[in-house]
Amino acid sequence: MKTFKVGLIGAGFMAKAHSVAYAGMPMFFWPAPALIKKKLIADLTVERADEAALQFGFERGTADWRDIINDPDIDIVDICTPNDSHAEIAIAAAGAGKHIICEKPISRTLEEAKAMYEAVSKANVVNMLAFNYRMTPAVQLAKKYIDEGAIGDILDFRGTYLQDWSADPNSPLSWRFQKAVCGSGAFGDIGTHVVDMLRFLIGDFTEVNARFATYIKERPMQTGTVDNLGSVKGGTDVPKAPVDVDDQCLLVLKGANGSFGTIEATRNAWGRNNFITFEIHGTKGSLYFNYERRDELQVCFADDPGDRRGFRTVYTGPAHPYGENLWPIPALGIGYTETKIVEMYKFIDAVANGGRVSPDFEDGYRIEQLGDAAFRSAKSGSWETI
Ligand SMILES: NC(=O)c1ccc[n+]([C@@H]2O[C@H](COP(=O)([O-])OP(=O)(O)OC[C@H]3O[C@@H](n4cnc5c(N)ncnc54)[C@H](O)[C@@H]3O)[C@@H](O)[C@H]2O)c1
Repeated sequence: MKTFKVGLIGAGFMAKAHSVAYAGMPMFFWPAPALIKKKLIADLTVERADEAALQFGFERGTADWRDIINDPDIDIVDICTPNDSHAEIAIAAAGAGKHIICEKPISRTLEEAKAMYEAVSKANVVNMLAFNYRMTPAVQLAKKYIDEGAIGDILDFRGTYLQDWSADPNSPLSWRFQKAVCGSGAFGDIGTHVVDMLRFLIGDFTEVNARFATYIKERPMQTGTVDNLGSVKGGTDVPKAPVDVDDQCLLVLKGANGSFGTIEATRNAWGRNNFITFEIHGTKGSLYFNYERRDELQVCFADDPGDRRGFRTVYTGPAHPYGENLWPIPALGIGYTETKIVEMYKFIDAVANGGRVSPDFEDGYRIEQLGDAAFRSAKSGSWETI
């Protein structure tokens, strides 16, 4: 069996998720497409990198991500840093002929996304963008229903990503609230996940009319480079600094297939934790998904007898996409980890056996084009072509 060596950059939340996925992938997907050796992990200080090497099972740490690019022994570069370094690292990794898995959103700007897409295309390396929520078996099942025509032609859609971890104004001004680092706020951080899921399910969008808002205009300044996602509050004595990104967005979209719908993302939805939903209506039925109940897909078919017609719940299990590899009984329950394990399986399979993996940098670039048109629309006040 082949073995690939990985260098991971950015030892925070996503480093944990990806490290668990490397370890879990062969346990769920056996025989595995290849085995993984976690070689080098980089962060900004050698202390954090060494600690992360111990915690996440890498051979050693480094304070310079270029050590990973320059190591001829490393096959895969895994980018888990905040968005401001995705382009520089990915372009260097592609130049060195490394296969790349990069966290979403692809970048801060359309220009960076284009340069990244061009770099991986030129280098002909396997590239994946880590929009893991579409790997949820219930989302894959929705795609199967749509592709089989079970709900007919798509008429309209609505998607949401609602959170409240930063709804408290005392949640600190981490990198997620600084345009220079993140590029955009609620849209880039969470809205892009819904865009990815809906593009996956029903195809591309052609036009957008969007509005953005920032309700919490300043936050206590944060020390340290890790975003603790609101778990450590800034005290009232901590100096504040302005937030220069959106904390809410609403996009009205036209689909290339003639459909029409909305995508909404907010960081201010008290009571909503990871409320990622979509509802899609077709000429022959409807589908509804909510990630907070991620083992369930709600389906309704128009040709059911009138006295039985209505939404019913399909609990995902071995009969459904990736189900045979996950757990043996429906509704045992999958979590965030399993979505990352499926994602990692697809990536490693493409590295081992060739072929394109989805979502990739092209998808990331297309989503960035949509975001760019959305921000143009908010300025112009009118519809913009994507
Ligand atoms: N797919 C998802 O569900 C999901 C969830 C969370 C975050 N993300 C994405 O993952 C990326 C990382 O987010 P996170 O939540 O893990 O962040 P985090 O704040 O938890 O960790 C980021 C780490 O990167 C380090 N870092 C910053 N710049 C660096 C550099 N130049 N070189 C090396 N290390 C550097 C920081 O010190 C920190 O340890 C972001 O792009 C984010 O949008 C995706």
